[in-house]
Amino acid sequence: MSQQFQPCITDDGSYTFFSEQFGQTFHSKFGAKEESIFKYAIPTLLAEKASRGHLRILDICYGLGYNSAAALATIWRSHPDCTVEIIALELDRSVPISAIEHHLLNDWEEPIPQLLTRLVNAEVVESERLKAQLILGDARQTIGQVIARKFTADAIFLDPFSPTACPQLWTIEFIDRVAKCCAADGIIATYSCAAAIRTALIAAGLCVGDTSPVGRKSPGTIASFTSSQLTPLSPQELEHLQTRAAIPYRDPSWSDSMAKIIIRRELEQDECGLETTSQWKKRWRNR
Ligand SMILES: C[S@@+](CC[C@H](N)C(=O)[O-])C[C@H]1O[C@@H](n2cnc3c(N)ncnc32)[C@H](O)[C@@H]1O
Repeated sequence: MSQQFQPCITDDGSYTFFSEQFGQTFHSKFGAKEESIFKYAIPTLLAEKASRGHLRILDICYGLGYNSAAALATIWRSHPDCTVEIIALELDRSVPISAIEHHLLNDWEEPIPQLLTRLVNAEVVESERLKAQLILGDARQTIGQVIARKFTADAIFLDPFSPTACPQLWTIEFIDRVAKCCAADGIIATYSCAAAIRTALIAAGLCVGDTSPVGRKSPGTIASFTSSQLTPLSPQELEHLQTRAAIPYRDPSWSDSMAKIIIRRELEQDECGLETTSQWKKRWRNR
């Protein structure tokens, strides 16, 4: 058995892992399972869209597989006959392997644990209701395969470690590539409400909105090419997009190190002359 990742419990009773490499847990301490349902499966409207009979999902940062598991459960509970295609991108195969070894997918109903175990072991699943592929490698490069295939997803889960730990997957350039994989009425969901991320989504031609907070104060973000499926940002949140915090991460060659991407942004922030987040917060407190 892989000893690399040890399960740690979250507030909803489900388990996550801690990454020594990124210095973070894989999910919010408020609830790993709840996060996959309330930040990803519900905001992307999968239960409703399953009435179409076929759905395509791009799961960026597959990790333990919770977001794909929650998506399949949500779809098949409302429309058991809906067929699903999933492309999952992940850097480190030992993460989903450890999740399976620790039986962490067994919380979801049959046949979801079996199907996702096959996906991780064989990197591909072809069953009656699920066609899935796990593409291993740096998502900055592997997303090129998704674009080349013209795979346009109804739902995209964008779930990297936080922008300060993994800025590579929150850059203007990466998010532009993510947007290319989104169907005309597809929805991109992420747990982050960082202004820099919202700026990158808007720069890619998307409209952005809030998802409801789960267990903590901050909401997540959803993005789509049309605003009709979104809860719009509040005036306060819109103003946050005019502050230093909204300066996006950049990675023009899709290969820069975390440190280089962070320093590049700090230099741009130093020169931007925009208000800081604390000034913005203070102004809104005083209103
Ligand atoms: C916050 S966790 C994702 C949790 C996951 N969505 C789940 O439901 O369990 C972030 C994941 O991103 C992966 N990752 C980190 N850098 C990556 C990269 N450059 N490309 C693809 N995956 C990456 C990590 O190995 C980790 O599994």
